[in-house]
Amino acid sequence: MIKTATSEQCASITVNGVELSVSPGHSLIQALWKTNHPLFKRASCLEGVCGSCRVMVRYTDESEIRMALACQSKVESGMQVIFPQHLERQSPAMQSHRYQLQTSTPAVEQLHKIFPEVAHCRHCHGCTVACPKGIDVEAGVTLINLGQLTTAGELFVNCVMCDLCVTSCPEDIAPNYVALYARRSTVINKPLPANLAARLQALQRGELKIEY
Ligand code: SF4
Ligand code: SF4
Ligand code: FES
Repeated sequence: MIKTATSEQCASITVNGVELSVSPGHSLIQALWKTNHPLFKRASCLEGVCGSCRVMVRYTDESEIRMALACQSKVESGMQVIFPQHLERQSPAMQSHRYQLQTSTPAVEQLHKIFPEVAHCRHCHGCTVACPKGIDVEAGVTLINLGQLTTAGELFVNCVMCDLCVTSCPEDIAPNYVALYARRSTVINKPLPANLAARLQALQRGELKIEY
């Protein structure tokens, strides 16, 4: 059973169509956590990094629906919140075997072979509007179609892989995965940073152990 907040000053919000009384001053995830609502389990990092807690929010007196991260959004009385379903990672564009990079073939050529749908972008702007991190996703897709993989990859450096841009795309493009591919393909021929290489070598030698 879902419990309600015990504080005298409760905020009334709607989550996935269910009205809840929660403690104000908390993030949405904290508030749900305190009521033992099952949706608080959508959280992972609690720091706005993992993207797992993405939500659609409509505030009182606003008609606009905003995309946000529940761990980064404060409770406001009257807000309506929807936690969208997570995508099944079955679509061909998201299968890991499609990410194998071959140094023998130009990266742009490989990218369009793996993600042919990216060329069908209809510039509807939906992905950019959906992004809770304020990334101009559509511009990134355009750059990828122009073959500018490095610039496109840099545009997505704050992407948290929340998939909201994928959910919004009428052409079934997964801009976040395409951008990830672009970033990987532009570093594949570069040497590892020295500190990372040293760390990996130390791990291989068994010199770094994790204490439990
Ligand atoms: S680019 Fe897409 S996956 Fe990345 S944060 Fe924005 S909406 Fe989420
Ligand atoms: S939602 Fe899809 S079709 Fe629309 S601009 Fe973004 S990538 Fe292009
Ligand atoms: S829990 Fe990771 S972004 Fe919110």
